[in-house]
Amino acid sequence: MSSECTRSLLVVLCFILATGAHGGKVCTVRTSKGEKVLLGSNFTFSCIFNEQCTKLMFRNGTQIKYKQFPNSSEVSVDVHNLTAPSTFSCQCNGNPEPCGIDIKPGYPPDVPQNLTCVQKMKSGNISCIWTTGRGTVIDTTCQLRFQDDPHLVYKSIMNSTGFCHSTFPIKSSKLSQLSVSLNVSNSLGFKTSHPHTIILSNIVKPSMPKIVHVSCSSRWCNLHTDNHSLNVVEIQYSAVNGIRSTLQINAKSRLNISSLRPYTTYKFQIRRKIKHSVGLWSDWSQPKEVKTKEEAPDTVLDVWYLQEPKPQQSNRKCFRIFWKELNLSDAKGKILKYNISVLNQTGINSSIADPRRRNKTTCCSHCSVSVSAVNSVGQSPDKFLYLHSPGLFSGFTQQRPLNNHSVALFWQKLAIAGPEYVVHWYPVGNIEAIQWIRVAGITANITGLQPLECYDGAVTALGSPGLKIASIKDISTWQSAPEEGPDPYLCSKKSESLNLTWSETPQRTRRGCLKKYTVYLKENSKEDIHNFSVLHPNRQLVIGGLSPGQCYILWVTAWTDAGEGPKGSDLPFCTPSDAEKTLSLVILAGGAVLLACLILLCFCQFTSVQKRFLCCCQCLLPIIPDPANSKCAKTYADDKGEIMFYLDQCESSVNEEPDNVEVEEVPYPSICTYIKSFSQESSSSDATQITRITDMTEDYISTHGAISGGEEEDDDDDTGLDEFEFFPSTHSPFLEPLVLTGGKLTLDVVKIDCSEFLDCT
Ligand SMILES: *[C@@H]1O[C@H](CO)[C@@H](O)[C@H](O)[C@H]1NC(C)=O
Ligand SMILES: *[C@@H]1O[C@H](CO)[C@@H](O)[C@H](O)[C@H]1NC(C)=O
Ligand SMILES: *[C@@H]1O[C@H](CO)[C@@H](O)[C@H](O)[C@H]1NC(C)=O
Ligand SMILES: *[C@@H]1O[C@H](CO)[C@@H](O)[C@H](O)[C@H]1NC(C)=O
Ligand SMILES: *[C@@H]1O[C@H](CO)[C@@H](O)[C@H](O)[C@H]1NC(C)=O
Ligand SMILES: *[C@@H]1O[C@H](CO)[C@@H](O)[C@H](O)[C@H]1NC(C)=O
Ligand SMILES: *[C@@H]1O[C@H](CO)[C@@H](O)[C@H](O)[C@H]1NC(C)=O
Ligand SMILES: *[C@@H]1O[C@H](CO)[C@@H](O)[C@H](O)[C@H]1NC(C)=O
Ligand SMILES: *[C@@H]1O[C@H](CO)[C@@H](O)[C@H](O)[C@H]1NC(C)=O
Ligand SMILES: *[C@@H]1O[C@H](CO)[C@@H](O)[C@H](O)[C@H]1NC(C)=O
Ligand SMILES: *[C@@H]1O[C@H](CO)[C@@H](O)[C@H](O)[C@H]1NC(C)=O
Ligand SMILES: *[C@@H]1O[C@H](CO)[C@@H](O)[C@H](O)[C@H]1NC(C)=O
Repeated sequence: MSSECTRSLLVVLCFILATGAHGGKVCTVRTSKGEKVLLGSNFTFSCIFNEQCTKLMFRNGTQIKYKQFPNSSEVSVDVHNLTAPSTFSCQCNGNPEPCGIDIKPGYPPDVPQNLTCVQKMKSGNISCIWTTGRGTVIDTTCQLRFQDDPHLVYKSIMNSTGFCHSTFPIKSSKLSQLSVSLNVSNSLGFKTSHPHTIILSNIVKPSMPKIVHVSCSSRWCNLHTDNHSLNVVEIQYSAVNGIRSTLQINAKSRLNISSLRPYTTYKFQIRRKIKHSVGLWSDWSQPKEVKTKEEAPDTVLDVWYLQEPKPQQSNRKCFRIFWKELNLSDAKGKILKYNISVLNQTGINSSIADPRRRNKTTCCSHCSVSVSAVNSVGQSPDKFLYLHSPGLFSGFTQQRPLNNHSVALFWQKLAIAGPEYVVHWYPVGNIEAIQWIRVAGITANITGLQPLECYDGAVTALGSPGLKIASIKDISTWQSAPEEGPDPYLCSKKSESLNLTWSETPQRTRRGCLKKYTVYLKENSKEDIHNFSVLHPNRQLVIGGLSPGQCYILWVTAWTDAGEGPKGSDLPFCTPSDAEKTLSLVILAGGAVLLACLILLCFCQFTSVQKRFLCCCQCLLPIIPDPANSKCAKTYADDKGEIMFYLDQCESSVNEEPDNVEVEEVPYPSICTYIKSFSQESSSSDATQITRITDMTEDYISTHGAISGGEEEDDDDDTGLDEFEFFPSTHSPFLEPLVLTGGKLTLDVVKIDCSEFLDCT
């Protein structure tokens, strides 16, 4: 009723509009092919004017030229190759009211094909989709028509990519199949398909299942779904970043998925079907992510160790133990800590390390360690290592760079070769970045190196009874000349010779392995330059043969195998003339006597030490008693005080604070001895003084070498005298008596700055 009413209303309205428009319009339009044209086609557009006026024609608002027929009120234009919707219109000049038409180009529909229909189990409606292969651009109607009931037609509009959708209910649940034909039509044409037969049991699609809950152990997961009465379920699961696995199971059994990995997040999805041969698969369920439980790690850690070069306790050796992180699948959980147990004669001593740590230092003798990784469930099997002090070999290895990041190493079968070797390496000065590999042969390719870096390493033969280790120095791939030059400093100078040291080049500016230094010396008044080579890591040089009272300039450069770096700062200096030398000697001697007097005066201040004063005065007598047998030593052997002894070291970087050496267990007579040596020193020639300073340095270097000799480690960064290395250096005239006596004493009265003796100006 209501629709008929609406229709009649529309007809009336249209009539009024049409008559009104006709009466008022200045023109009427005509096209040769209607409003819808084939895309790319030609047609004629024309206007017939109802009055005499200046005629105008427009295309999309732009005025265009037209053809006019003589003695006619009609004007027209031929349009070629129309590809986009366009508006054509005509107008009388001065009259704003136009007449016009919108023309849309498009395609006629193609034959409908690829009908797919689905019957959703819950709704009972059937949804079908079919296509014509391409969009028609213009409005196109789709019709689905039942063969057995021609009046039953479902219409819809084709979407822009050429698909038609229809949803319709099934009239009778007894139907087992349907026969339909498809018809697509637009103003350019229509196409009809052959009849299609739809077998209803093949298009039944169960509703989407749901995973309600997943319960997991470390190796399997059990899926709980919403209640379903269907027989076939497909499960799809994948570890994060892992391969996707698919499993089809009979849903009557439990949805139990086994052979999973511990401590891994899995994503599960399921879909279902009525029977293997019936119906369609449902959509995949929403994914559910679950992490399997942890298990105790079952892989032994890869552990290695190095002997520390400088033992802290004299009778025990110290070892740095390193271990590698377990990979994710071996860890089987989150590693919470590492358990490091040291076993020695006195028993077991376990300690716990933070999970981020990969090294631990332990000091012990005749001991072994075990290291294991601990997660919330348990700990990995212990890795046992007996801590040996390895015997050091050298000159058994060769290296050949393969590319910027790897080097091939070769070595001779070491004297007692084991079945396995460990090759380790680390950037010079950064032992914590150690890496190691285990190899069976006598060659190894080490990788992960950086160009412009210098590495130290070693090959260790694992075999009874002890370890043999062959060090590999200066491993590098790509090198260039150092970026920075060393800054030279004077240790001492005389009228004819000079003792010189220079700063160490920082690791980051070495750009390879330092090989040597060159010291350049130029006399101010002359052109020629002398140069001296010093092998790395020595950083000291005594230059002789200088002229007294002359001024010089010197500088130092560093070398890698790739070449020479720039020079550091210039060091200008003048040698003292002979007169100055005598003067400085007098001043030095005078100063020494003054100092000695001051010390004595201090002692005399206290009545309680007057005895000592007297005694010590004996020490200054021309006949000097043996300190150990002196009266002073016998009387005051148990007296205790404090001595702080300051030494400026030429060996260390000059910027550094002087080392503060605490001297203990030295009885008083050593002061006397000290004063003795001092007075001797001041009277001896400058030449001997210089020589002795040099001796001390060489001694330091050799001592250092001896201490680190048991181990391939070489602490290049270690500037400055280490107390432990420097202290037993018994060749020094200054230190000998202090060490040999070994009583207990420290002084704060006497503070001697070595540099005052050494610096001449
Ligand atoms: C449309 O006109 C052009 C040029 O006038 C001609 O080349 C072309 O064949 C015509 N196209 C059709 C479909 O008639
Ligand atoms: C028709 O126009 C389209 C786009 O404007 C162009 O690619 C095509 O070559 C033209 N065809 C003819 C026959 O001019
Ligand atoms: C089934 O289709 C009919 C007709 O298209 C529609 O009215 C009805 O809402 C549909 N039912 C469902 C559950 O989609
Ligand atoms: C229709 O189905 C056939 C074969 O099943 C296929 O090759 C073709 O690409 C499909 N057409 C469209 C438009 O999807
Ligand atoms: C047309 O329908 C098809 C099939 O459902 C769909 O994939 C496509 O996205 C639709 N195109 C547009 C423009 O909506
Ligand atoms: C297809 O639809 C068009 C337009 O509605 C109609 O003229 C034509 O008869 C239909 N063809 C068939 C086979 O139903
Ligand atoms: C599944 O069915 C059982 C009994 O038939 C009922 O107790 C349970 O609540 C149902 N579960 C869900 C998720 O519907
Ligand atoms: C799942 O399967 C594993 C091995 O196949 C079995 O050990 C486990 O008990 C099963 N879990 C359940 C809940 O059935
Ligand atoms: C560390 O490991 C040792 C050796 O397996 C074991 O005896 C000790 O209990 C462990 N300590 C801890 C805290 O787990
Ligand atoms: C090695 O041990 C030191 C402490 O001795 C620690 O500061 C450092 O972080 C450790 N390095 C690594 C890589 O674990
Ligand atoms: C090696 O590294 C240097 C410096 O980074 C670079 O200039 C050179 O091209 C690299 N050579 C190769 C073969 O990658
Ligand atoms: C090391 O690398 C070289 C060159 O790539 C190769 O020929 C050799 O087999 C490698 N050696 C080992 C032990 O991997």
